[in-house]
Amino acid sequence: MAKPLKVVLFLGTCREGRLGLRVANFMINELKKTGHEVEFFDAASKPFNQFPILEKAMFFYKEGEKVPEWMAEAKQKVVDADAYLMVSGEYNHSIPPGLTNMIDHFPTSIFGYKPSGIVCYSPGIYGGMRAAIQLRAFLGEMGCLPVSNIFGIPKVHQAIDGDGKPLDSHMESGAKKLIDQLDWHAHAMRNHREKVGTPK
Ligand SMILES: Cc1cc2nc3c(=O)[nH]c(=O)nc-3n(C[C@H](O)[C@H](O)[C@H](O)COP(=O)(O)O)c2cc1C
Repeated sequence: MAKPLKVVLFLGTCREGRLGLRVANFMINELKKTGHEVEFFDAASKPFNQFPILEKAMFFYKEGEKVPEWMAEAKQKVVDADAYLMVSGEYNHSIPPGLTNMIDHFPTSIFGYKPSGIVCYSPGIYGGMRAAIQLRAFLGEMGCLPVSNIFGIPKVHQAIDGDGKPLDSHMESGAKKLIDQLDWHAHAMRNHREKVGTPK
């Protein structure tokens, strides 16, 4: 049995009453059910709500300059991860800025040679898919290429309850398709990283 994967799950919406938290809680449960370890990076909760609108990315700290401890710890979790899961709403047909703002603080190099997955949602019928397509380009630049499946959740308020419990029979099968792909790619990439390293 392969050792469990470490997955960092990012949620970037911060609104009062946000629906993203339901989706994040649902996906955390689904990942844990399949034996994965999950770190939850929630832009609205400590310590991640301490990220200001980007003032200083980690890679602009000079030699010897003190990076805030919580930020250094968060970076280490990104370094240690085998895969990333983005939970994204759609703001004006685009990626919610809280999501990119959080990620922009970290150097792209620490995401590289690992896969990512996208879960998008909206209360409407398109399920946040327009943001997901933009997120694909963004994740390409981060070096954590997204797997082909995008798990889109339309009418999210009817699909998951406030505690993250699925209310729609397609939810678990939809999550499984994405997690299966993420799992396959993450294991393959981890094996290859361990065997030959990564290009310098
Ligand atoms: C600033 C803003 C822009 C939005 N733009 C869109 C949009 O372009 N397409 C869409 O389907 N929903 C849009 N919505 C509605 C969101 O999909 C809905 O509020 C969703 O719940 C947002 O995720 P959250 O609850 O986690 O913040 C927008 C909401 C906000 C606050």
